[in-house]
Amino acid sequence: MSTIHPPLAGDAALAFIRANTVLSQPPVCPEITLYLATEITPLWEATEAFLAEKNLPPPFWAFAWVGGQALSRYVLDNPDLVAGKRVLDFAAGCGMTAIAAALCGAARSEAAEIDAVAAASITVNAEVNGVQVEVLLDDVLERTDCPWDVVMAGDVCYERPMAEKVFAWLRRCAAAGAVVLLADPGRDYLPTTGLMKVAGYTIPTSLELENRTSRDAVVYRIVG
Ligand SMILES: C[S@@+](CC[C@H](N)C(=O)[O-])C[C@H]1O[C@@H](n2cnc3c(N)ncnc32)[C@H](O)[C@@H]1O
Repeated sequence: MSTIHPPLAGDAALAFIRANTVLSQPPVCPEITLYLATEITPLWEATEAFLAEKNLPPPFWAFAWVGGQALSRYVLDNPDLVAGKRVLDFAAGCGMTAIAAALCGAARSEAAEIDAVAAASITVNAEVNGVQVEVLLDDVLERTDCPWDVVMAGDVCYERPMAEKVFAWLRRCAAAGAVVLLADPGRDYLPTTGLMKVAGYTIPTSLELENRTSRDAVVYRIVG
């Protein structure tokens, strides 16, 4: 079971997010504005000082990961996929894909995270974009039901135990009847079976974050 980090007291998380990020648009999703880091190193240092004593994880929420950008672009270009639907952005980070779904008319857009600071960033990012996103600060992988019509996960294949657990859960959601989408730039633990490619995007990125200036990210539908 994953560790759930409880919300920080008061506005500590929001103040930290605002102090260490700037409002900007992910390269392939200019329709969405997010509190994002401009440089990695200063944020990492600030994070260690602020979060480490609280035993919180690294600031994944401060970046629009290429998988999430591909997924969000796909949603923005295919609004019928989510319009009127109950949608989950699993492992939402900054909440970009949940925001894309809300902008496209999802009846209910939810974002699941286990990181309390990420949960705060999703709330503030949704506000900036003028949409409602319900944040689930919870390990939904423990759930046996799948109440969502559409489940989406961007960039979740970077650690083997997590990727295996997530993929098993996503497969169960697909078997329960949900449309399940996964977007990934070829990380080490991307499964090799049960995926159908539905779209591909070349996403500009930073050398510091990805060790290259762009990455090709693929959106897959889970088919088995
Ligand atoms: C690389 S980030 C991707 C964030 C976002 N999907 C994107 O593409 O920008 C991975 C995120 O997964 C979250 N995460 C890891 N395990 C999780 C779980 N069991 N439930 C919800 N979120 C989880 C982490 O906290 C982190 O924010």
